[in-house]
Amino acid sequence: MSSSKKPGRRSQAWFGSADKSGFLYRSWLKNQGYPGDLFDGRPVIGICNTWSELTPCNGHFRELAEYVKRGVYEAGGFPLEFPVMSLGETQMRPTAMLFRNLASMDVEESIRANPIDGVVLLMGCDKTTPSLMMGAASCDIPTIGISGGPMLSGRWRGQKIGSGTGVWQMSEMVRAGEMSHEDFVEAESCMHRSKGSCMTMGTASTMANMVEALGMSLPENAAIPAVDSRRYQLAQLSGRRIVQMVHEDLRMSKILTREAFENAIRTNAAIGGSTNAVIHLLALAGRIGVELNLQDWDELGSKLPCLVNLLPSGEHLMEDYYYAGGLPAVLREIAAHLHTDALTVNGHTLGENIANAPCWNRDVIKTMDEPVRAEAGIAVLRGNLAPNGAVIKPSAASPHLLKHRGRAVVFENIEDFHARIDDDALDIDETCVMVLKNCGPRGYPGMAEVGNMPLPPKLLKRGITDMVRISDARMSGTAYGTVVLHTSPEAAAGGPLALVRDGDMIELDVPGRRIHLEVGDEELARRKANWKAPETPTRGWYKLYVEHVQQADLGADLDFLVGGSGADVPRDSH
Ligand code: FES
Repeated sequence: MSSSKKPGRRSQAWFGSADKSGFLYRSWLKNQGYPGDLFDGRPVIGICNTWSELTPCNGHFRELAEYVKRGVYEAGGFPLEFPVMSLGETQMRPTAMLFRNLASMDVEESIRANPIDGVVLLMGCDKTTPSLMMGAASCDIPTIGISGGPMLSGRWRGQKIGSGTGVWQMSEMVRAGEMSHEDFVEAESCMHRSKGSCMTMGTASTMANMVEALGMSLPENAAIPAVDSRRYQLAQLSGRRIVQMVHEDLRMSKILTREAFENAIRTNAAIGGSTNAVIHLLALAGRIGVELNLQDWDELGSKLPCLVNLLPSGEHLMEDYYYAGGLPAVLREIAAHLHTDALTVNGHTLGENIANAPCWNRDVIKTMDEPVRAEAGIAVLRGNLAPNGAVIKPSAASPHLLKHRGRAVVFENIEDFHARIDDDALDIDETCVMVLKNCGPRGYPGMAEVGNMPLPPKLLKRGITDMVRISDARMSGTAYGTVVLHTSPEAAAGGPLALVRDGDMIELDVPGRRIHLEVGDEELARRKANWKAPETPTRGWYKLYVEHVQQADLGADLDFLVGGSGADVPRDSH
């Protein structure tokens, strides 16, 4: 394809000048062997890479980027790969979520500061997807997403074992004395046996589905396994497509409309997706200027059924999901509930993309008439314990606990929890409500995935597998249980959660969308008067984060990052 010279193209503000500045911008890049005609006005495509050996889920991204480059060159573009901060969910302390907004700033400023006309986002592990999407949204240039794809199914002694979900199950078995430590360690090597992201419908898989449902990737992006050759074909095709998107000026804001977010929310219900999607999509909507709020999740998605029979809500794994037809098959099944005229990055509408999508396995992708679970979307709870809302994933909860009243057993922070939960003297039974404080955005800091507190061993040994748990934390998308999360305002911000004491009665009513602390207003006011805010960090990113992070119901973005600054940078660097 011949290049099309466009003096108005963004990259030409760098490469198009005949003076000293143009020399500087072109000459130094030429040291990598790029011929002069690559600077002639053809679309320059940034490949935003989150490869890192410390982010094992994205460990194959250098190879993936090479396939993107093939496609960009084939379509007449000039690809330039660049690294950004990578967030490895399993490695980072105190939690990768603390750095989502920092990484998004890296992405935003890397795109804005450089001669890029369009960008390809290579995303995989949980936080790498929202951080890249958020950063790119604040620049709003033509953008296409490519997910890394899930790992092959975990296999141990003839059984499927799923990322995360299997860890939670087996660790509870070890604590209950039902599994040996040797078997537990052996399972480590059997769970994660290929490159890619967690192969349950955890947060990484959920966010890959969200990217596709939003229209931000080519069809089938969400589910192709990381090591399947079709993942690399998709990367090459995405490389070709982003060049055309630059020619068409198909910017992110033309794809990420209110309708696209509504599609994503409904899709999250149908796939049994992670509660983390709530926070990430609220933050993304804030960056692109779409009005979206927490209540939208309940109103748009909560009545829809879960159709995808994957762990943690069901039985199968992402490899099975892809072979069954992946997200296009799900979207076709729920098409009546979608805005099928929403535009996607391939230039077609969502409806056109899914019109003939086949389903090859109805045990993995169910029908609306025979779903995995009815009314499975995220429920938003309110009450005096969560004035600004809290969320629960009913499809991962125990039906008999969705309406429950119990005595609070309170843990002031995660250290308090770890210090006392294994103590047989702890005054707790299966009717109690476990309450964990100070694990929200400011409190942890970073809102860790500790909301699915492990149960006391003395109850596990009696065969108790679920209890009501309430916190201001998040929960891994691979986890399950009757777990109320994202309580807002959080305890560290002086929310009512901070005032709960041992012995208080708490009422959970998921059908009635209510979470209520049975303590009078006067007593709560007395407790609030004696409440002391926890100490806050005094330097560096932690300080900036804690001073500016918004509450969970707003997406936990930094207040000064909401919105975007576009992509214009008129000043030269020399
Ligand atoms: Fe990276 Fe699950 S830990 S995707």
